[in-house]
Amino acid sequence: MLDLNQLSQLSLNSQIPVVNSHNDWDLLLEVIVGCVKGASVPQFEANVKVDSPPKYWDFFQQYGGHSFPKDWIEPADRELDEFCRVLVGEGIQVRRPDVVDFSQPYQTPDFKASGLYALMPRDLLMVIGNEIIEAPLAWRSRFFEYRAYRSLMKEYLKQGAKWTTAPKPLMSEELYDFEFAAKTPDEQEALVKQGRYVTTEFEPCFDTADIVRFGRDLFVQRSHVTNMMGITWLRQHLGYQYRVHVIQFQDFNPMHIDASLVPLRPGLALINPDRPPAPGYAECFKKAGWDLVESAPPTTPEHWQLPIASKWISMNLLSLDTKRVIVERQEEPTQKLLKDLGFTVIPVDFRHVYTFGGSFHCVTCDMRRDSQLEDYGFSEFYGIS
Ligand code: ALA
Repeated sequence: MLDLNQLSQLSLNSQIPVVNSHNDWDLLLEVIVGCVKGASVPQFEANVKVDSPPKYWDFFQQYGGHSFPKDWIEPADRELDEFCRVLVGEGIQVRRPDVVDFSQPYQTPDFKASGLYALMPRDLLMVIGNEIIEAPLAWRSRFFEYRAYRSLMKEYLKQGAKWTTAPKPLMSEELYDFEFAAKTPDEQEALVKQGRYVTTEFEPCFDTADIVRFGRDLFVQRSHVTNMMGITWLRQHLGYQYRVHVIQFQDFNPMHIDASLVPLRPGLALINPDRPPAPGYAECFKKAGWDLVESAPPTTPEHWQLPIASKWISMNLLSLDTKRVIVERQEEPTQKLLKDLGFTVIPVDFRHVYTFGGSFHCVTCDMRRDSQLEDYGFSEFYGIS
């Protein structure tokens, strides 16, 4: 039997559209959690080379096109199931994508590849109000990733959501700077400082994990997977109700913003001390009334396999509201910091998922929060394009 409080919450919830989210911190009601079953090692394409540390290059060259090892998939799958159980226990509806075998090779008129996974919905999907935007991902191994989410998308469409797919990139040779990819990591860093990345401006591309939502204001970084033409598409698509700001960090191998800038509640966000915002941006946040707090050191040991992520995914947490946050169980310094900031921390084991390139924020896409479109102090935000 539901008690009176639960009943009144239920009737409030039923007035919220089925897809509805404007930021990362309002009360979470429904979320997609990615799936590691069917995950395949991507082939050693230009983006993979740029985004992975050299010690893993042999691994991609040898196993690209094959399923990830079973002893990587199974523990990660168990951690994901436990994460889902925790979410359900916190009153959140959890949805999962279809299971797809991503090792199947494919060919378009422009290239040949095989897939990756449907583990990181944050990269592919973004909810803005009641609209789901499907991103024009930049990796060839991710060209068909959307297929795993089509059952869910059709369901949300039938229930009233707006569903948009950004223009699908051709991913022909012209989208990639192969000369850049052939350089050493140090040479690449120097080129990034000059504004050169592994993706060109041939056509729009972006991963939605390069965007962070603050109601009317969205912050997006130019990265190896998000180009200026992609940002232009987003800006023009969203129109006058939104301000899309390009933000830069002292990150010279950028891919995804959610281990660099993590908003926790209005006026408070975590930043990464190893890659703080570029000069000038922190002052702009301060003027907008936001405190930027440095995240605590990560705890992942050196020997842990991290072929496509940094140890800073320690700060890639999921907020259930402005009080409850899910943090990896072994990230004790991050947990302590959050507790000191007044949060209730829910610890969940997730290190085996880290190995696939992300943590709680990456593996989710919040579909429904008790959220409305608001301004969070950035209307006078100058100095940011
Ligand atoms: N790709 C980002 C990192 O691993 C999220 O730090």
